[in-house]
Amino acid sequence: MNSHQIIEALANGERPSRSEIVDLLHPGFDDEEALFTAADETRRRYVGDAIHLRAIIEFSNYCERNCVYCGLRRDNKTLCRYRMSPDKIVERAVDVYEMGYRTVVLQSGEDSYYTSEIVAEVISEIKRGREIAVTLSLGERPRKTYRLWGDAGADRYLLKHETSDEVLYAKLHPDLDYRERFRCLRDLKESGYEVGSGIMAGLPGQTLESYADDILFFAEAEIDMIGMGPFIYNSATPIIGSGLNNLDFVYRLIALTRLVTKDTHIPATTALTIKDLEQGRMKVLSVGANVIMPNLTPDKYRADYAIYPDKATAAEVIADSRESLAELAASLGRYIGEGVGGSRKKAGVG
Ligand code: 5AD
Ligand code: SF4
Repeated sequence: MNSHQIIEALANGERPSRSEIVDLLHPGFDDEEALFTAADETRRRYVGDAIHLRAIIEFSNYCERNCVYCGLRRDNKTLCRYRMSPDKIVERAVDVYEMGYRTVVLQSGEDSYYTSEIVAEVISEIKRGREIAVTLSLGERPRKTYRLWGDAGADRYLLKHETSDEVLYAKLHPDLDYRERFRCLRDLKESGYEVGSGIMAGLPGQTLESYADDILFFAEAEIDMIGMGPFIYNSATPIIGSGLNNLDFVYRLIALTRLVTKDTHIPATTALTIKDLEQGRMKVLSVGANVIMPNLTPDKYRADYAIYPDKATAAEVIADSRESLAELAASLGRYIGEGVGGSRKKAGVG
């Protein structure tokens, strides 16, 4: 099949082979516009014109892990560390609810200071009498903890697998285990969460084949939400490599992921909008994305959640109002989704 036929087959619901995905990611593939158009049509058909907002609160930048690409890694002594108290987290989440958001994402490094019980308490306090979805992004924990948090009311969980290349995964994550990562994703799914995963693009050592495997994994594991962003070099980390020259490759990954996974939620991630917030978002939203994750971390902590350089500057701008986001949506002929905006994969939600 030529690339046109592959795009058409994908649009008609066929599951691609690994080599077909590789063909469309290949630098020699020259019909990006056809891919983007097909992805945008698939997005409209399966998840509609709503853009869902997920407010993120980054409540602690302590991390016990040492991922070689990440500014929060425990060996980065240049970072000023902070923790919000459980009461402050709840207070902020309630503020976010009162501003009109219907999803709050609680995110931190892997920080065992927040015990299972403390987090469970925070979740139930936030959920008490409020129609708000709680998404957690707290890293790897035992199955019983995921269950406890689910019972406390947590609805969704984000845990990127970062790359499906097992050898590369081990190099990038000196103290994480590839199989354990997928164990967590499985446990989360089995515990009733809507599960988010995702990857970075442009890490030294990734291949077109590994990206193809990433996309096939999203489909096979019925991942509900997929976050994809460029790796951005951080000089406070040991990784060597400058990342991608431009974002075109990530747009292509997003478009292909939409075409293959159909009804997933795909955010315009912060890392994708770092060069030009408005244009970056418009572009990603027009090639398959349908979610924006505004940063609602209290101002005084923003600069310290420094996963990569300039994130705080981007985050500052991203303190956007719901009005400006509604304008952005309208300029694309779209609108801001009401309600919690749950997974389309679950019967009756949507
Ligand atoms: N560039 C882009 N994204 C990064 N992340 C961590 N380090 C970087 C970086 N240098 C992302 C990872 C991880 C989350 C904490 O942030 O995808 O899941
Ligand atoms: Fe910690 Fe996550 Fe950064 Fe790894 S990627 S160092 S687990 S915050």
